[in-house]
This record gives sequence, C-alpha cells and structure tokens, in this order.
Amino acid sequence: MKKAIVPLSWKDTPALIERLLPVQKLSAEAYKEQMAVHGKTLTALGSYWKGRKPLILNKACILGCLLPATDNPARDLEVFEMLMGMDDASFVVRAKRRAKPREIVEQLSIARIADFFTCTPEGVLPSSAPVDWTKPEHAGVKVAWRADVSEGARRRLEAQLLPSVPYRERVDEAYRPEEVMDEVHVHIWDEVNTHLGTEAHSFPELVEQLGIVRFGHRPRFADTFSGSGQIPFEAARLGCDVYASDINPVACMLTWGAFHIVGGSPESRERLALDQKELVRRVQEEIDKLGVETDGKGWRAKVYLYCVEVRCPQTGWMVPLLPTRVVSKGYRVVAELVPDEKGKRYDIAIHSGVSDEVLAAADAGSVRSDGRGQDPYLVHCVRGAEYRTKVSTLRGDYRSEAGLSGNRLRMWEKGDFSPQPGDVFQERLYCVQWMRPKRSAKSNDYEFRAVTTEDIDREQAVADFMAEHLVAWQARGWVPDMRIEAGDKTNEPIRTRGWTYWHHLFCPRQLLVAGMVNQFADARLKFGLTQVLNASSRLSRWNQSGGGGGIVAGVFDNQALNVLMNFGCRASDYALDLLMGAIKSFPIEKTTVGVASFPAHEARECRDVYVTDPPYGDAVKYEEILEFFIAWLRKNPPPEFADWTWDSRRALAIKGEDEDFRRGMVSAYRRMTECMPDNGIQVIMFTHQSGSIWADMANIVWAASLRVSAAWYVATEAEKRIQEGSNYVKGTVLLVLRKRLGSHKTSRDDLAWEIQEEVEKQVADLTGLNQQAKGLYRDANVFEDSDIQMAGYVAALRVLTRYAVIDGRDMTVEAIRPRVRGETTFVDGLITFAVDTANQCLVPQGVTKATWDKLSGAERFYLKLIDMEARGAKTLDNYQNFAKAFKVADFKALLASHRANDARLKSAAEFGRAEMSEGSELHQSVLRAVLYALMELQKDVDGAEVLAHLTLNLSNYYGDMVQRERVVELAEYLAQRLASLRPDEASAARVLRELVKNQRLG
Ligand SMILES: C[S@@+](CC[C@H](N)C(=O)[O-])C[C@H]1O[C@@H](n2cnc3c(N)ncnc32)[C@H](O)[C@@H]1O
Repeated sequence: MKKAIVPLSWKDTPALIERLLPVQKLSAEAYKEQMAVHGKTLTALGSYWKGRKPLILNKACILGCLLPATDNPARDLEVFEMLMGMDDASFVVRAKRRAKPREIVEQLSIARIADFFTCTPEGVLPSSAPVDWTKPEHAGVKVAWRADVSEGARRRLEAQLLPSVPYRERVDEAYRPEEVMDEVHVHIWDEVNTHLGTEAHSFPELVEQLGIVRFGHRPRFADTFSGSGQIPFEAARLGCDVYASDINPVACMLTWGAFHIVGGSPESRERLALDQKELVRRVQEEIDKLGVETDGKGWRAKVYLYCVEVRCPQTGWMVPLLPTRVVSKGYRVVAELVPDEKGKRYDIAIHSGVSDEVLAAADAGSVRSDGRGQDPYLVHCVRGAEYRTKVSTLRGDYRSEAGLSGNRLRMWEKGDFSPQPGDVFQERLYCVQWMRPKRSAKSNDYEFRAVTTEDIDREQAVADFMAEHLVAWQARGWVPDMRIEAGDKTNEPIRTRGWTYWHHLFCPRQLLVAGMVNQFADARLKFGLTQVLNASSRLSRWNQSGGGGGIVAGVFDNQALNVLMNFGCRASDYALDLLMGAIKSFPIEKTTVGVASFPAHEARECRDVYVTDPPYGDAVKYEEILEFFIAWLRKNPPPEFADWTWDSRRALAIKGEDEDFRRGMVSAYRRMTECMPDNGIQVIMFTHQSGSIWADMANIVWAASLRVSAAWYVATEAEKRIQEGSNYVKGTVLLVLRKRLGSHKTSRDDLAWEIQEEVEKQVADLTGLNQQAKGLYRDANVFEDSDIQMAGYVAALRVLTRYAVIDGRDMTVEAIRPRVRGETTFVDGLITFAVDTANQCLVPQGVTKATWDKLSGAERFYLKLIDMEARGAKTLDNYQNFAKAFKVADFKALLASHRANDARLKSAAEFGRAEMSEGSELHQSVLRAVLYALMELQKDVDGAEVLAHLTLNLSNYYGDMVQRERVVELAEYLAQRLASLRPDEASAARVLRELVKNQRLG
C-alpha cells in the first residue's frame, strides 16, 4: 500500500464489506449491545423507541464501506477486527479487570522477566517466568511494568493470559468496546497505518483519510431512514460528515439529540445538567403554588392510581373496574371493594401489610378475561349473587345492517379532559401513594392510602385549573389540540373510549405536569418531556410488582396504544425525576452533522455512502404511534426543530409489504442512487423474514438501478427471547449495493450458467477464506455454513442485478410490474433458479450430487443439519435458515429441541414411528425408511424383519435398484456423521448398510 494519502487513488478499489465481514463475532457483539437495554448509548434520549440497530453493527457497516479489500484478505480481517475492538489485545482492555504484573509472571512463560518488568528488590526472582510465588524467598518481591514498555507491548503480553473460550463467552465477560472507547484502540494505530498506508491516530483521522483516497474528501454519509439515529450517530462518531433524515419529526428529534446531546461537547453537557435542574425547580414551584400534591401533614404524593368505573346494567351499581385488587406486591397492599348498599356503589378501602392469603385472594379483580383474545367482563357480587357483563356490552358494541360496527360511547370533544357525567366509562381515583423523607436517612417512607375527601378536593382543584387553562395552553401548543387520526393502532383509543384528541390520553394531573414541562423546555429539554409523557399517561400501566412498592410503566413498553382499566399517574416529584435521567456522553468532533425531515424519495444532495434501515415489513407502526408525541411538540417547536414538518405524513411513510411498499422503496432508493457518485456504496439492512424477501429486494434494487455486490447475515437477538419463553431468532441481513452502470444485456440461458458459476465460486471462495482464516483464531470459525449459504443467495442476486436487460426485457420496468397474487413473475423465476443453484452448492460431503438432486427438501434439511451438528453447530437460526433454503414447511417436527442455542434434530429412536404418514414431509422418503430401520436395529429387531419393513416403507424397492443404492449411501453417511454424536445409532447405520449390501434379491 502506498504511503502517501493520494486523493481518489482507491476510487474503484472494492470495499472490505464487499469481500469479508466477521459476522459471527459481530453477532456476539451486537447481541451483547442489544442486551444492555438501558446501558445502550442512545436509549436514554428515548427509551420508547424500540427498533434500534446496534451501534457496533452500524460501525462495522460504515467502516466496511470505507476500508479497502486488499490482496491480503487475512490481514484485512485482522486490521478490521482491531478497529472493531475485537482483537486479543483489545480484550485485555475490555476485561472487567486487568492482570497485575505479579499474576502475569506467575502464569506466563517469559524468557526474560527484565524485558518487561522491574523487580524490587532485584535479583531475588529467577530471570525467567513463570515465577512460583509460594516459595518463601519470593515473598515481598514487588513486580512492576518497566516504564519504557509500551501499552501495546503490555497488551500483547497480557493477551496471552486470555482464556481460550468461544468468542461469545469472551464477549459475555467483557465490556463493550464503546464502554472503554478512550483506551481500547490505543495499541492499533501503527499496525492499521502500516496496512493501509494512512497516518491516523483516531477514527476521525482515519475516516477522513479513507474518504480522501476513495472520494476525494471526508466521506459524506447519509441515512434517509434515520429513526432513533443509531446509524448516523455512529457515522458521525467515526468522523464522517453526516446527513440524517426521516419522514417522522420524532425520529428527527431523536437523531438531533444523538448528535447534539450525546455527541455534545462536555461544556454543553454541563450546561444541560444545570438547565435540567432549573426546569425541575420551576415546574415544581408552579405545582407547589397550587398545593395539589401534599396532604398538609408533611407527605407528598408519589403516584395517583385511577381506574375506570361503570354502572353495572344488571344491578344498577357503580363498579370500579380493577383487573386486580393488588395495589403493591412489595408492600403487600390490597384494595377492598366495600359495598355501599344505599348508594349502590363501592367504597374502596386500602389495606397494607396483608397476609399471603389476603394478597392471593386480591389477585382477581372486578374485570377479568378468560384468556387471551377473550372479551373481558365486569364481575361483582350483590347480596351473594354474582353478575357478569361483557365490556363490549357496557360499551354497547353493535353491528349495523350495513355491516359497520360501532358502539354507544360518546365521542369526547376538544374541550374534554375527563369523562362527562353521563359517560359510560367514568374515572375514579382509588388510591394514592404518599412519600415523606425519613428523618435519619436520605430515603423516603412510603404509604398507600385510600382516597379522602381532601384528596377529592385537590382533584377538583386540578380539574378546575385545567378547565380554566386548557384552551390557552392548547393555543400556545403546551398541550395537544390535535385530533387522533383513525388507523391500525390509533383506532383503539377512539373505539374503546371515545377519545378523539391526543390530550384525552392524559388525565388532568398529567396534563398539568407535562404542560408545564413543555412550556418551559427548550430543544434539549424536550427529550425529558417525551420521557414524562411516555411514563405518565392514561396508557401508563401501574405495575404493582415493580420497584419497591410498584412502578408506573411506559406507554411504549409495547408498540400499541392499548387502553387500560387502571393506570398510574406520577405526581410531579416522580415525573420530574425523568428529566434528570443520566445521558451518556460521546462528544463528536469536527464533522458536519445535519438532520432534516423529508421522505427519502425527496433526497437532494449527493452522498458517498448510505447505510439505511428501511421499514421493511416492519411491525412497528411508527407513523401512527409517534403521533402521541407529535401532538405535544408540533405547535410550538423550538427553533432547532422548527424547520421540520411536524406531522407524521402517514400517507408518505413506507409501510407494509405490498405494492405500495415496493413502490415507496423503489422511489426512495432510486433517488438515493441518483444522489450518489458512481463509486458510491450503500448498505441496506433488513430483517431476515421470509423467502419472498429476496425477490422483493432484488426487484427494488433492480428498479433503483443498483446492483448487489455482497450480503451478510448477522444474528442479533437470539437468547433474549428464550428468557421470554419463546425461541425466536432474529437476524439482520446487510445488503451491499453499488450503482448499476451501463446497460448490460443477457439472455436467460446465459444467466443460468453465469449464476451457477458465480454461486459456486462464491461458496468456494468463502470456504477457502474460512480455511485461511481458521489459523488466525483459536475460537469459532469466521463463517458458518449459513453465512456461506447466504453468500450463495447473494452471488445469485449479484449476477441478476448486474443486468439491465434480460431476454430483451427492461428489468427496471419488469421489477416494478405489479404482482398478481399467485402468479410467478419473471423475476421470481430467476430468483428461484438462483436460490436452487445456491442450495445445490451446499451438498454435504459424503452425499453424491446425483442422490442430493433426488432428495426432498426435508431430507436435505436433515442430512445437512446432521452434518452441522456433527461439527458442533447448535443455534436455532441455522435450522431456520436451512429450513427456508430447503423449503421445509414444518422443520420443528424434525427437531428434538428448538432451544435458541441448543437446538438439535431428532435421532432415529426419537422419531420412533412418527413422520411416516402422508402429512409428513418425510413421508415415503429414503431417509425416513433408513431412520426407521435404525430405530428398529437399536431395539434389536431381527435383521430380516428390518429389511422386510424397509422394503415396505420404500416404494418400488425391488424395481428400482437406485433406491437400494441410496439406502446404502445414506446409511454410510449417517454412520460417519453420527460416529461421535450417537455411537449406537452410527453402529446401527453400519449394520443396515451391510444388511442391504448383502441382501439377496429375488
Ligand atoms: C426501521 S426504522 C429505522 C430505525 C433506525 N435505524 C434505528 O436504529 O433506530 C425506519 C424509519 O423509516 C422512517 N420512514 C418510513 N417511511 C419513510 C419515508 N418515506 N421516508 C423517510 N423515512 C421514512 C420511519 O419513520 C422510521 O423511522
């Protein structure tokens, strides 16, 4: 590599990410970051935003686009891993505790201790290590690093102490690279510079130089679907000039916060801390003036608990709807519904410190459901008789003659903030949690109390205040005055409560506190406002088991707008705490950052690198649910946010998976391609969901005049879900794209050959690199078979998207042709062919191609996965990926365990007699017959009988000699693969092989 930085000298050099990416290690790192939850860097700005792409993954993509793929891939990989903090020496710093010199000389063999350490007194220790510290003469000797030993040399020596465990385990025990960001990369720059010919000692310097040699200037980076800003933040932190945009202003705000708060200077952060305190003080002062949160005896309110109350149509009683009567598990507090016969209503008594029995009895409340998806019903007893009424009946749900559904709820009006007297659903304060500072300590005493008449007076005072100020506050934009537009997620509050404006989702106390925060908050302080809104609204669940006494949970703990029968309202003290949340600090230096709100297809400026995470088949309806915040921010945004369109522009948001989705994606990516130099590069991230994704993406890429140059699969969220009881594995595909230049033509026949060649080459290359890289690592392979399989798919896409015209058809036009349900398009056909070709390359060793070609998908799946199991693989995503590849509909029927990290196939014995019938994907297959025979042989069934059953289980056994040969081949294959996995079954396989070989026919 040349020494000087010559502008544009790597203009056309392939990028590293087009050649390699250590995806297994990256998966482990990404997973670790996802599991950090609140420890994540940007989360404190908006914990309500869930679909955050891990920063470490983003870093890998951005660096991978800028670094060159040289003619020394092994070294490329090593240097890349250093930059990612994944090398051994980095793990020395990432360890929770570094080894002391004394431990180093005790555990390592070092030819001359004096090369690294000074020992005092001198001459007592031997000249070489290891040192035996149990010897009495060594006691009291002090060992210290020599001052002239560089940090790099120290790390390299210490790295020899790292335990040789799989990478994932190593990551589990370590800090994330960004947690030790200031020191972790200290040792790498000489080696990085030698390999790349750069002169950098930090990421911004390196990235600037990489930009100059590739694009002639510091890289201009864009993410047009920026969401919470995870991708653009990482690009800015690395040193790119960054242009982030998103159609949604809340996304813009989060991205802005990432740049200017988390990425703000230390001085700006000090100022922010002071301003946060001042905001809390001001709001508190205003609330205190109203005197609505104290009991006059030294206690302040912490939480107000409200529930819905309805009139039971059967008894005429007013009944509070409590899903549970437990108020606090920790403090053992329950609510008791005390009948008031005369008033036909219930008083609500609160009991603290109750016994286990009382607590258990309080579990069931006055509104219940008999299971998921079942209509909840009100239940209460009057004079010994139980009355049940469905909530849908209370609402008066009906279906009109025209088939339209509706109910008899009154629709709330703009001036409403509480139910009107005649409304079906009333709201009732049923308990208050109070707190008072302890005399002796800094903490508080807490009490849950029943509602008193003074409490009711204070409630009235708040309501009066809001009644007086609502219109003015709405006019000034301090509280919402925006209608709730009907939609998938927004229908629920409208339909089930009659709430029609966004402020209806807040009770008067919540409007009061949030309205004041909004009034006094500048751009930086609006982040605290959104946290307050999330944590205190009519949709904020009271979690009676959380924290010490219970906690008020977030609206966005799920991604719907579910209404609740009871909720927690934070009093100002508890709510304002959220304004002071600890936000991490990673000052961004030197680079230009910009945020704008526009739909991606309106991008205008030219950018060199795009990394985007579009809303592919996204379950999260950002465009609807974020209106919850937009309603509060849109009317009077601070100057920093004033240029953004404060509307979710639902119609322009890309969503779903149908025709509109494809059209939206195509126009977005077409625009980005136009706004990209010829040597620009893009990475699209998307979730690996279904087989159709490949055809979709091929179409989008094609129509956008892009071509696929590489792709990778990173499993990001494996184990998390196990704890939640399901084994869902989620991964991200990274599709690397270049501009499609020229207008190459080909025919379908030529394509077939080309695809085959490319797929085979790609698979072989990667396997070759696998071998080459193996020697470099003591841990796991750099690639696993599923990655190689992915590379197969991608090689196919690479060939296809290279061409603009196939068989005389213009592919950009073909790709956007609307799909007709059930019809296989030209593109689908090509993709299927390509994917089949890729799969053909994955024939496990020991199975002939001729046999493989004749096997069903389920058989291939089983044989391939047995091969992988024999080599120690056991993650469920392998099974999922191959099931998709081999088109096995119900692969779980073939598994004995579907645990995310401990999956395995059924053995012959575990299959028993299952999967023999017509409904099974293994029905009448050679493999099933073989497994059946192995099961019998292990049960000591007589050989002749085993053969007799085998001939029955296979059609045309005697007529088609090939059937017998296949049995022999599969038995031999299983004997080898199972040798150490299941020796007994392997031996049965050998017996079967011999039985069939020696069987006398006729
Ligand atoms: C999957 S999210 C991005 C998440 C982000 N990478 C993160 O880590 O937080 C997709 C984003 O695309 C935005 N979006 C949807 N349609 C859009 C369009 N037509 N133009 C620009 N942005 C759009 C959504 O508002 C959403 O923020």
